[in-house]
Parts: sequence; structure tokens; C-alpha cells
Amino acid sequence: MKKNVVGSLLLLCFLSIVDMACSNNNSNTNSMSTAKITTQSFGTFEGKPVTEYTLTNGNGMQVSLINYGATLTKIITQAKDSTWGDVITGYDSLAGYVQEGNPYFGATIGRFANRIAKGTYTIDGVTYKAALNNNGQSLHGGLKGFDKVLWDAIILPGDSSVQLNYLSKDGEEGYPGNLKVQVVYTLTANNAVKIEYTASTDKTTVLNLTNHAYFNLTAGKSPNIYDHLVQINADKYTPVDASLIPTGEILEVKGTPMDFTQPKRVGQDIDKVTGGYDHNWVLNKEEGLQEIANVYEPTSGRYLTVATTEPGIQFYSGNFLTGSLTGTKNGIIYNKHYALTLETQHFPDAPNQPSFPSTLLKPGETYHQTTVYTFSTK
Ligand code: GLA
Repeated sequence: MKKNVVGSLLLLCFLSIVDMACSNNNSNTNSMSTAKITTQSFGTFEGKPVTEYTLTNGNGMQVSLINYGATLTKIITQAKDSTWGDVITGYDSLAGYVQEGNPYFGATIGRFANRIAKGTYTIDGVTYKAALNNNGQSLHGGLKGFDKVLWDAIILPGDSSVQLNYLSKDGEEGYPGNLKVQVVYTLTANNAVKIEYTASTDKTTVLNLTNHAYFNLTAGKSPNIYDHLVQINADKYTPVDASLIPTGEILEVKGTPMDFTQPKRVGQDIDKVTGGYDHNWVLNKEEGLQEIANVYEPTSGRYLTVATTEPGIQFYSGNFLTGSLTGTKNGIIYNKHYALTLETQHFPDAPNQPSFPSTLLKPGETYHQTTVYTFSTK
């Protein structure tokens, strides 16, 4: 009897050790798979509710987005000292995002990202005029681009993706064709923010989609990005005129301030470029998804890589930030060069530049674009 009691106790002990080991395993497995999405009200726009979706992965990284402008509102990542911080610019509430002069913080840009000279272009002999909103040019889709409309949002199965849908009607902002556009944001288990775009049209149109997140990898600890190291896998770029319209040339970066083929401090040559960087780099890449740029911020140790299917990237150093925006997150003053963007895209003014990759989308075709921003530390 005694033996049995001891035996049972030993067995219990053994089982509980196994159980502990198992539950540790379980909690690890769970922590890898506890992707979740929470929602909260973010106000109303044109009488309709705006919702903020917060995606959390098993490592604790968080990405938030709203259905106004299919806009990224927060990307919270860990620094090398294990503290968490929000690495993109934004506002505390919807009022910030809808304010006049919001420089497209985190927004989805369309129908045509970047500039179209005088807003004018021709398709099959018909001349179209996109809305002018930037010194006589059309910028980022015109007066009310995709960044200023409400999208329909759906949480996808798996609790790591949100899909946003928008119908841009024929003639909207001067663009032909009813365009159905879809953006899917995914926060992956390996700390990547994946953005997948799909679109189709019922009339031939031009299309260039991007995201306009501004990064400061110190998460607000530095008021500028001069000490961020940027590398862009591009031997060439498209120079621009005074209105920031490409001249049509494609020039070598070698020996110029535009050379980011090796990691380089943003501050190193920025004064040699009027206003700072605001150019399109011609990526060294084949078709398909490829890593083409990275940013390293030494004090936080944060490291961001960018992969895309697009042929170009607009590296913009926040030249037009003036510190005048209201309702900013934690009251941060976003002054000139506070943050940088890496807008994956087709080249600016492509509809008027026959030598640039085409931005035409025809009925029956499907537009696909994928861009992945991956965060780590080193
Ligand atoms: C883009 C443009 C810049 C500027 C910003 C928004 O990045 O290239 O010139 O207009 O958007 O302020």
C-alpha cells in the first residue's frame, strides 16, 4: 500500500513535470501564434464610422490602421534595449488625419502616386486632365485622392490581416474607368508589415499605388533622420525639374549625393540636394518581390528592410514638414527632416514618359503590387 502511494506520488510528479514541460511548449506555441486584431472607434467621416484596427503578433509587435485613407496609424516595434516605440508619424485622433495639409501620413496613395505634369496625359488619343493640387501639377491622386476617402474594411481569417476595398468611380479626380482597388495589410510572425494591392478597371486607366508612411526609427527620440543609415539598391535615379517633374533622363547615382548603393547617413550629403531628398530611384531588380532598401538607426538598433515588386522608390526626407501640424501623436513637433518615406512605386509622370515602365491598366488585366517593410534590431 505504502509502495503504491509512493509510486502514485512519483507518477503524479512525473506527470506534472511532463505537463509543465508541455504547457511551456504550449505557451511558446501560443505566443508564436497569438496573432490578434482589436478594433476601436476612431470617429466619423462624412457621417460614417471610422475604425482603427490594431494587429498584434506573437512577439508583441503592433500595427494599427484606419479605414480613412487605408492609413497606417502606428507601427510599434522593439528597440535593441527591448523598449517599444512607435516608428511612424501620425496623430492622436481623426481630426489630425483630416486636417488641411496633412502630408499623407501613413496613407494609401492613388489613383496615381507622385506627380503627373500639369495633370495631363493621353490614352488611346484621348486627353485626360487629373485634378491639379501641387503648383499646377497633379500630386498623389489630386484634390481627393485615395488617402482622403473611406474604405470598406474586413478582418481576414487568421487574425493577422485586414483587407480594405474602395471603388473609384469613372471620372473621379479626372481618371477614366471604374477602378476596384483592394489593399491587404498583414502583420507577419516575423515582424513584417506586408502590403498587397490588387486592382481592376472597366476602361483603360493609369494606376500607381503606394503607401506614404514616414519613418523615424528612434520612435520620437531624435527630431531628425540625419543619423539614419539608408541603403538603396539602385545605380540610377530620375532627375527632376524645379516642379519635381522628371526631366525624362535616367542618370547614374555614382559620384553624386544620390548614391545610396552602400549604407550612408542621410545627413551626409543632404545639404548638397536642394531641400533634401525627394526623388525616384530606379531599382536594380528583376520582376517579382525583391529586397531593395534598408534603413538602420544605430542608437535604437532598429533595422528596417524594404522589399517590393515595384520598379522604383521615392526616398523623401520630409523636406516639407514645417512643425505646423496639429493633434500630432504625443504632441511631437514634426519639423523638416523629422522622418523619411520609402514609397515603392512606378516612376513619377510615367503616363507622359514613354521610356518609363508603363502605368496603364486595361480592362481584363489585374494590377498586383506587394511591398514588405520588415523590422528587426542589430
Ligand atoms: C511625396 C512627394 C513630396 C511631397 C510629399 C508630401 O513624397 O514626392 O514632394 O509632396 O509627398 O508632402
